[in-house]
Amino acid sequence: MSDRYALVGNPVGHSKSPRIHAEFARATGQHLEYGLIEAPLDGFAQAVEVFRAAGGRGLNVTLPFKQQAFALCTRVSERARLAGVANTLVLDQDLCDNTDGIGLVRDLSENLGFGLKNRRVLLLGAGGAAQGVIGALLEAGAQRLVIANRTVGRAKTVAARFAGTAACGYEALAGESFDLVVNATSAGLSGETPALPPKLLTEKTLAYEMVYGRETPFLAAAHRAGARVSDGLGMLVEQAAESFFLWRGVRPPTRPVLASLRGA
Ligand code: ATR
Repeated sequence: MSDRYALVGNPVGHSKSPRIHAEFARATGQHLEYGLIEAPLDGFAQAVEVFRAAGGRGLNVTLPFKQQAFALCTRVSERARLAGVANTLVLDQDLCDNTDGIGLVRDLSENLGFGLKNRRVLLLGAGGAAQGVIGALLEAGAQRLVIANRTVGRAKTVAARFAGTAACGYEALAGESFDLVVNATSAGLSGETPALPPKLLTEKTLAYEMVYGRETPFLAAAHRAGARVSDGLGMLVEQAAESFFLWRGVRPPTRPVLASLRGA
């Protein structure tokens, strides 16, 4: 029988992860199955235990369970500890990890040719998605990292955990300029966007939207400003590759998968 892996979340219906991991498995000659588990909102831990008891080897975790995933394991990677949320469980090692941050950094550096060293970076949002990537952005050499959030107090609480970051609200960004602006808010999912001051996004900005598969108002505004833009599809593929590596000890090629998802 193949080793079993899955994505657990709620909802998981439209996830691209099974296709991504199936392509990784094919490319590396690994025998595994990757399924989807939609856990009830109050049933995450139970769903994990049922999967583990049935011989499941590893899980990816998505909304709304990333915080619970972090609390579930006896062993926590340094990346997950810094993030405070986990997206990957290695069940036979009782280990949780977070591959989102390295996924973003790899998408920027490998797929988009954007090195972070000495760059000025603005991170929009202070929820789980934002917290998951701060450590990796800093480690990759971002010179200045500003965390801006609608609820300023939340940004301040998060910034206090990471040396080398600053926190503010959106209106305080007037007159500022950044090389990279990452939208880690969930605003785009409801057709909204953080209220950014005009001229924050310019032709010199790389505007990165973590959401993929839709033209969010943030992406639309970045297009209008003439900025270079990217959605989060590459981050999805790169975080999956890092999870695959944790589980199988083999690093899968990501470019062909990303190209096939983009329909190239
Ligand atoms: P996630 O795990 O996706 O980060 P979350 O922890 O609920 O989800 O955080 C959502 C983030 O999106 C927060 O930064 C939130 O801002 P607040 O902390 O002020 O609530 C942000 N967000 C959601 N909807 C938004 C909107 N319409 N405009 C601006 N920010 C929004």
